[in-house]
Amino acid sequence: MGNKQLRLGAFIMATGHHVAAWRHPGSQIDSGTNIDHYIEVAQTAERGLFDQVFVADSPGIWGTGDDESFSRQGRISHFEPVTLWAALSAVTKHIGFVATASTTYEDPYLLARKFASLDHISKGRAAWNVVTTSNDSVHGNFGLDAHPSPGERYAKATEFVDVVKGLWDSFDDDAFVRDRESGVYFHPSKLHELNHIGKYLKVKGPLNLERSRQGHPVIVQAGSSEDGKELAAATAEAIFTAWTSLGEAQAFYKDVKDRMAKYGRRPEQLLVLPGISPVIGRTEEEAQAKWAELQALIHPSVGLSTLVPYWPDEDLHRWNLDAPPPYYPEPPKGINSRAHVVIELARRERFTVRQLYEYLAGARGHWVVIGTPQTIADRMQEWFENGAADGFNVMPPVLPASLNEFVDLVVPELQRRGLFRTAYEGTTLRENLGLERPVSRHASGARLAA
Ligand SMILES: Cc1cc2nc3c(=O)[nH]c(=O)nc-3n(C[C@H](O)[C@H](O)[C@H](O)COP(=O)(O)O)c2cc1C
Repeated sequence: MGNKQLRLGAFIMATGHHVAAWRHPGSQIDSGTNIDHYIEVAQTAERGLFDQVFVADSPGIWGTGDDESFSRQGRISHFEPVTLWAALSAVTKHIGFVATASTTYEDPYLLARKFASLDHISKGRAAWNVVTTSNDSVHGNFGLDAHPSPGERYAKATEFVDVVKGLWDSFDDDAFVRDRESGVYFHPSKLHELNHIGKYLKVKGPLNLERSRQGHPVIVQAGSSEDGKELAAATAEAIFTAWTSLGEAQAFYKDVKDRMAKYGRRPEQLLVLPGISPVIGRTEEEAQAKWAELQALIHPSVGLSTLVPYWPDEDLHRWNLDAPPPYYPEPPKGINSRAHVVIELARRERFTVRQLYEYLAGARGHWVVIGTPQTIADRMQEWFENGAADGFNVMPPVLPASLNEFVDLVVPELQRRGLFRTAYEGTTLRENLGLERPVSRHASGARLAA
């Protein structure tokens, strides 16, 4: 394959990304806790030659709003990502698994061990989506009085990722000889204690697990604030992001890639993957009708609950749904950088309250593209060929139906254009993504090379 190929991830959100997906007949209604559903979805994504599947996560309950809207939300109950992917790695061969885990609330030794295990179990297909946790109501699950500030969370995240990578390098690649003849199992001189003492963490090591097939699971990052971009530039190999216009996506792409040089990294060592939520029809009319059908399933109280993070102190039920919001807030601290984009858009377009929640209902502010396989591929190609994306995180509005449609209709269109693979190139996620296997920090010259 001569041409540069785009990368595809399937971002799996239980019944689908649309807020009313669970009410749609194309969704598996109990999918958050239905392993057969996830097996089907992962195998479909693999049939479509996707690089990876991804689940978001938070160590606490998702959802906001009063009892009325809470009772109508379909994402309340769902699996923990690493255990889920460990099960699915046994029923797939090629696809990579991106699991989300929090540097604010998890323990670095246990996290390093879990992800190294997943990398061994999946034979080199694991990735860690490093998040600092955007949900500010989970601290009570961990004995904390408050959610740490964004600055504090990111400072800890930087140290945390370094510790985890250090633990993954506990054993040199050639530490294990396993020689029955001589009776030597491994070389203790090739096992390294970490002895980390930092501002936030104190971890002795070593990890009780040898280096995995990928060396390190792939590191993914999903924050877009200044701190988020720095963390990505310093350590991430893929970044998930949310943009709705080519110009904004190009600016972000250039911004994060330009930051890499000061960390001694090259732009191709970080893949920028914006989200795209495709609503696919065989004709434009069919696509628009599908979208309208989904939007009609949004109960107003659920719609309004998507606005709570923006106007936390308002009784939103008193607002006229068919007029613009009475005022626009400064995005509150603690909520993620995407909030700025959403509020600017609402102001610019003079969205009514209903239009604003309908906009957010599609995929929480990610890019929704409604059209035929050709027009959807056109938009993806435009972003890919104009410095806005190295690939996409595909966010099916309804699962499994919309992923099936993407694989059956859009993937062949991308392949016809020479933009997407027709067979997996490698056996590990790194090989498929075109990412290097990291050299251990203990290998001779590693510090210089890094
Ligand atoms: C595609 C995508 C997926 C994300 N998944 C998660 C997630 O699973 N859990 C989480 O806490 N935050 C998630 N985030 C949010 C970010 O990781 C980050 O914590 C948040 O955006 C706040 O950081 P920021 O202000 O740097 O953007 C996601 C963001 C994007 C764009």
